[in-house]
Amino acid sequence: MKKDEALRLLHDPNLIRPQSLILLSNIADLAASLKVPCYIVGGFVRDLILKRPVHDADYDIVVEGDALTLGHALVKTYGGHLTEHPKFRTAIWHLPSTFNFQPSTIDLITARKESYETPGALPTVEPSVIADDLRRRDFPVNAMALRLDGEHLGELLDPLGGQADLEKKTLRVLHPRSFIDDPTRIFRAVRYAARYGFNIEAQTLDLVNEEALKILHSLSGERLRHELDLILDEESAPQALTHLADLGVLTAIHPKLPAFDSSCADWLDDANERLGVQADRRTMGYMFWFMELSEADVILLANRLNFTNELTLDVWSAAQLFNGLPHLTNMKPSEWTYTLEKLSPISIYAVYLTTQENALLRYLSFWRHVKPHVSGADLKSRGLPPGPRYGEILSRLRSAWLDGEASSKEDEAALLERLLKE
Ligand code: CTP
Repeated sequence: MKKDEALRLLHDPNLIRPQSLILLSNIADLAASLKVPCYIVGGFVRDLILKRPVHDADYDIVVEGDALTLGHALVKTYGGHLTEHPKFRTAIWHLPSTFNFQPSTIDLITARKESYETPGALPTVEPSVIADDLRRRDFPVNAMALRLDGEHLGELLDPLGGQADLEKKTLRVLHPRSFIDDPTRIFRAVRYAARYGFNIEAQTLDLVNEEALKILHSLSGERLRHELDLILDEESAPQALTHLADLGVLTAIHPKLPAFDSSCADWLDDANERLGVQADRRTMGYMFWFMELSEADVILLANRLNFTNELTLDVWSAAQLFNGLPHLTNMKPSEWTYTLEKLSPISIYAVYLTTQENALLRYLSFWRHVKPHVSGADLKSRGLPPGPRYGEILSRLRSAWLDGEASSKEDEAALLERLLKE
């Protein structure tokens, strides 16, 4: 891509907001005043060349110099604060809230060279030039840099053939040990392939071999879940997860990790606020994905993938309900209600979506809100001594409403009189 074409794309308000461009040029000006070449790299450049809006992209700024020095200068000039990682000489600049800007952080990276001593572990790094920084990356399409400082604005560095790959709609690794060094790149390849409709080059696919898959075992649950979370965020998550299953990645993570059933794809964004249930695509995704598993397998996988307690509870709850549903079908509304109350509402909604069991919808929209008119205070004023009878009587009254035995205040009052005499 020639410089004038890059400048045209950078100034296209449909691709990048004018205020984002101003921010980038302010960063570049400061870098120029420090005499350090400054580039934006990675997804921003890839998507700009693909003419996809980069409004929500991460801004990865690489400098051939010290990113921490640039970070301090940015904070001094514009405010905000830095999170520093001195070991890698990188920093995250948290923009001042007055900027009211998305993204709210900018990654500042010192151009570096990396070497991997142990497969799957974090690399050893040393400061270097931009060409080395591009070489350490995952795929050529993510290894392009657009220079931002001074008269160099708009110069594209593409030493590894990223543009050609974008044209060919191809993803490939930069060297045969790429997946061994960093097996999370397998997830990334599959995620980009599904997102952009690209092919993964045959030689790269061959590298998703036994040796690479074995290293997945040594990856922390945190890192694995992060990759799966990013996949679930995508519109094309079902295709990506199916691809991972076909490549043997899912069973390599854990033999009990099942394939993802694509038939629930349309429901990932379907958490329904009106029913008082809400969840993100990730929670919905894991609930659908693990719904048919046994309790023991859900717990195994939740531990392996380092689920939060909240996520574990939702996923466990969905699987319990789904598997127990055949035993519940002929129950009375009160029995449904007292069973379902032990489970998380969002998991009940997820099981409703997959089974269309109407009782689940009736519980969420109606039954769970049913309460008797009589309260504990009323029972007290009737002289009932403190004890478990309170709970029993209130439950009996509630069941009467749920099961249609009481349909008016008078019905309830008559039932209460009977219960007080028992
Ligand atoms: N990168 C890499 N290997 C990884 C992770 C990241 O080489 N395992 C590099 C790639 O050059 C990538 C850049 O770091 O482009 C930034 O990574 P990330 O923010 O995860 O991805 P984006 O490029 O911003 O793309 P997207 O957010 O669309 O996935």
